[in-house]
Amino acid sequence: MALIALGVTGGIGAYKAVEIARGLQKNGHDVVAVMTRAARQFVGPLTFEAITRHEVITDQWAPGANADIEHIALASTIDLLLVAPATANTVAKFANGLADDFLSALYIATRAPVLIAPAMNTNMFEHPAVARNLETLIARGVHVVDPGSGYLACGWIGKGRLAEPEDVVAAAEQVLKATPVSAKPLGEGGLTGRRLLVTAGPTYEDIDPVRYVGNRSSGRMGFALATEALRRGAAVTLVTGPSHLPAPHGADVVRVRSAAEMHGAVMTRAAAQDVVIMAAAVADYTPVEKAPQKVKKTDAGLTIALQRTKDILGDVGRLPSRAHGRPVLVGFAAETEDVVAHARAKLDKKQADLIVANDVSRTDAGFDVDRNAVTLVSAAGAEDVPLQSKSTVAARILDRVEQILASPASNVPAGA
Ligand code: CTP
Repeated sequence: MALIALGVTGGIGAYKAVEIARGLQKNGHDVVAVMTRAARQFVGPLTFEAITRHEVITDQWAPGANADIEHIALASTIDLLLVAPATANTVAKFANGLADDFLSALYIATRAPVLIAPAMNTNMFEHPAVARNLETLIARGVHVVDPGSGYLACGWIGKGRLAEPEDVVAAAEQVLKATPVSAKPLGEGGLTGRRLLVTAGPTYEDIDPVRYVGNRSSGRMGFALATEALRRGAAVTLVTGPSHLPAPHGADVVRVRSAAEMHGAVMTRAAAQDVVIMAAAVADYTPVEKAPQKVKKTDAGLTIALQRTKDILGDVGRLPSRAHGRPVLVGFAAETEDVVAHARAKLDKKQADLIVANDVSRTDAGFDVDRNAVTLVSAAGAEDVPLQSKSTVAARILDRVEQILASPASNVPAGA
C-alpha cells in the first residue's frame, strides 16, 4: 500500500479525479487530496473528504495547516505525487519552481516520484510554452500520462482531454512499481558514493562554419539516466552533445559538439568513474576536412569525403579490466532486426557489461520521442523493457547497473 497525494487543479476534468481517487483506493492505496483554489470552483472539497476519509488540503494559510509544516510533512511521507488534471498553469508552475500555493510547494518539497495527467484545450496543449514546460518536467524525471483526444468540454475536438481514470490509475501503479529506489530521498539510493558518467545527445560534425552533419537525437535518454542516477545518490558527469534540454540539477555538465570532442571529454574522465553509460548518438563518420569559409554552391554536384570517428565505447572497453577498476560499461545499440543477436555480438566486441538495444524500426520509441522500448542484454541474459517513459527505462537500466556493481568483479573501491 502506498500513500499518494492526489493534486487536483482547476480544469473541467477535476470531477474525474474523484474516480481516480476511488481507483487508487480500490488498489489498496491511501489517498490525500490537495486541491488548488481553481479546482474548488469545479468540485467541492467535501466530495474528496468523503471518499478519501482525510481532511482535504486546500489552503496553505488555513489555521492548523502549518502546525507541523504540513507540506514538508506530507512531502517526506508520500510515495507518489499524482496531479490529475494538471492545468497549463500548474505545469508552468512546476516547470519553473513557483511555490505560491500548497500543491506547487509540495511539488518542490517532495522527493517522491511525480506523475501528472495534463488536461487543457488543444491549442493550449500544443502551445510551444506548454510543450517546453512539459519537456522540462520530463527531463527532470516527472512521469506524464498523455491526454486523450476527442470532444472537449470547450466544444473543440482534439487532444487535451484528461486521460481516462483507469489509465491514470494504471500509470500510477506502473510508476509506483518502477521507482522503488527513486522514491528514496535525493542522494540515498543504491548509487551513493559511486561516480557515473553518461553521454547524451547527438554530435555535430562540421562541414564549414555554418553546416554540419548531425542526427535527430534529442538527448532525452541520456538526460533521464543522469537524473535517475542523481536520485540514486551518484556523483554524475553528463557529457552532452548539442541538446536543448535543461541540465539536471546537481550534475557536472560538460558540453561538447563533435565526436572528437566527446571522445576527449570521456577518455580524460573514464578511468575515474565507477560507471560509464554511452547513451549518445555519436556520429560514426566526420568530414575529412572542415572548410574554413562557407562552401559556395556551384552548378556541379558536391561530394563530401567522410572518415571514421573514434569509437568511444570501444576505447573505454579497452581500459584495464573491471577487476582492475575499469568502470562498468554500458553501450546502446540501434538495431532494426535480430536485436538480441546483434546486441550480444556488440557486448563481446566492445567489452561492455550491458548493451541497451533499441529497435529503431518502431516509430513510437527511440529517437526524439519521450518513450522508449529496449532490450537489456548482458552476460546474465536478455530482458525486454516494454514501451514506457524514458525515465522509467532509465530506472530499469540503473537497476541492472546496480546488480553488476554488486557482482564480485566490480567490488573494487572507487578510484582503485
Ligand atoms: N558509440 C561510440 N563512439 C562512436 C559511435 C558510437 O562510443 N564513434 C557508441 C554509442 O554511444 C552507443 C554505441 O556506441 O553506445 C553504438 O554502437 P555502434 O557500434 O556505433 O552501433 P550502432 O550505430 O548502433 O550500429 P552499427 O553496429 O550498425 O554501426
